[in-house]
Amino acid sequence: MPDKSHRYSASMIVIHWLTALLVLGAWFTAEGGRKIAENPPLLHFSLGLAVLVLVLPRLVLRVAGRTPEADRQGWLAAAAKAGHGLLYLLLIGLPITGWYAASRMGVPVSFLGVELPAIASKVQSRPGLIAELHENAGTFILILAGLHALMAVWHQFVLRDGTLQRMSLR
Ligand code: HEM
Ligand code: HEM
Repeated sequence: MPDKSHRYSASMIVIHWLTALLVLGAWFTAEGGRKIAENPPLLHFSLGLAVLVLVLPRLVLRVAGRTPEADRQGWLAAAAKAGHGLLYLLLIGLPITGWYAASRMGVPVSFLGVELPAIASKVQSRPGLIAELHENAGTFILILAGLHALMAVWHQFVLRDGTLQRMSLR
């Protein structure tokens, strides 16, 4: 059983689980195609942008050295590092590409009721490659997070190395 020093800090843990809920919420509220312009999914925008807001303090905490050492070695350590890195990349890239896609469609983006500026100019044609990337990456993050959760459960119940406790408050 790991001791407390092997856990993530309480703020990292709260942000981790809140982010997981927000990503799930953003996925369930996502819409594609023409519906977006007629009836913008404001909840999708706010949930997705909240992911972006939360990733900033999370990265600061991480760089500030609040990550507990893991006693994984070899390919498991490398796979965990690559998987977590990819998840972080998606947590930043997804909201930005979504914001970009909405801007290209001329759909106003708001965060909790506050209107934000467009980050690209409106086009009459289809919103393009970045919008498609956003749609596919939006589902890819869910698959990757599912694998990540399976790995966490495998660590916990097969390797019995207390991995889940590292991301638990108690
Ligand atoms: C959308 C959902 C999720 C995302 C985006 C996500 C993202 C991440 C990221 C980026 C890390 C690395 C943290 C760091 O070292 O800075 C992490 C760690 C962790 N996650 Fe998730 N996660 C999600 C869902 C889950 C679920 C459902 C579980 C459990 C069933 C879980 C369990 C863990 C555990 C135990 C760790 C600590 C791993 C370790 O360092 O040993 N996560 N998560
Ligand atoms: C973690 C955050 C996010 C996830 C997981 C996510 C996921 C998705 C998914 C799966 C789709 C495709 C829906 C479909 O085709 O039925 C989509 C579409 C879309 N999302 Fe997001 N999204 C996120 C954040 C955002 C943000 C922050 C914005 C805007 C500020 C946004 C704007 C859009 C737009 C405009 C589309 C339609 C693109 C098109 O039809 O070409 N998304 N999103």
